[in-house]
Amino acid sequence: MDFDSLSGELRRLRDDALAAVAGASDEAALDQVAIRFLGRKGELTAVLRGIGTLPADDRPRVGAVANEVRVAVETALAGRGAALRSEARAARLAAEGVDVTTPGRTIGRGSLHPIPETVAAIAEVFGQFGFVVYEGPEVEDDLTNFQMLNIPPDHPSRDLWDTLYVDVEGRLLRTHTSPGQIRVMEQARPPIRALLPGRCFRYEAVDASHGFEFFQVEGLMVDEGTTMADLRGLLDEFAHALFGRERATRFRPGYYPFTEPSVAFDVQCVVCGGSGCPACSRTGWMTILGAGMVHPVVLQYGGIDPERYQGFAFGMGVERIANLRHAVGDLRLYLEDDLRFLEQFR
Ligand code: PHE
Repeated sequence: MDFDSLSGELRRLRDDALAAVAGASDEAALDQVAIRFLGRKGELTAVLRGIGTLPADDRPRVGAVANEVRVAVETALAGRGAALRSEARAARLAAEGVDVTTPGRTIGRGSLHPIPETVAAIAEVFGQFGFVVYEGPEVEDDLTNFQMLNIPPDHPSRDLWDTLYVDVEGRLLRTHTSPGQIRVMEQARPPIRALLPGRCFRYEAVDASHGFEFFQVEGLMVDEGTTMADLRGLLDEFAHALFGRERATRFRPGYYPFTEPSVAFDVQCVVCGGSGCPACSRTGWMTILGAGMVHPVVLQYGGIDPERYQGFAFGMGVERIANLRHAVGDLRLYLEDDLRFLEQFR
């Protein structure tokens, strides 16, 4: 071996190494190139093994050439490494990139369910006459749901309400919002103007016009000199506000144990205007609520002196009112949570 051939081999090695560096397509391949040329068992080490056969004068000169080769290869490795890392980063950014010009997804706007919406419309009208909203419990006791409303145990009028009992102690799911009358009288003194919306329950076979779960709004007014005419005037205002000024109304005799006298309140059919159609069974009238003068016994149970105070009460089914407002024919729709139905009330 002489200097020329050894340094020639080193230069070839350098050219091979630089070509391999340039051809490495990722960082792992680049690591392999480094090991192959510069590693402890690599090609540079192998070539330098021949250095011992050279005359002593030539050895430092070959060492200098070998150093140049090593620096050249190391520089190329570092440069290629940096390039590969920034390529990889650019590729990752491109893949994960967010296109800020993409149009946003529109968020559907919600709306009130037609039942609470109807309750709000009812409360709005009565609110204008000073009625304040109260709420009673859904699980009631027999005493408040029946007995204090003048419906004794085993009285035949209990047949009006098919009751769901919670236990044998007489707890039950309220069959109407009327026990709220008692609850209000227990906590307020006349003059009373209370509105009691709430969920009620009855043991019913479910069909288009009966649910075992439904909503009522109860009204109660107690004051000195309250009369049936006040009740009639108030209900007229209510019917006109919800169904139109031009609509006629009427009282028909009715029966409830907790009011005396009791009435059904009818509004001229909102579908045919009174000429008679299937919606009003060809009568021209629709019953929208039950009402009457609070029975003196009920006032007494509520701790109010019936000699001094009189009251009226009314109760209406919210689904029925909502049906008339929105021309819905089946109250099961209100509980099904079907968006195709609910979206129509936006
Ligand atoms: N509570 C009665 C019902 O469930 C309605 C009503 C309330 C009637 C108040 C008169 C007075 O049908």
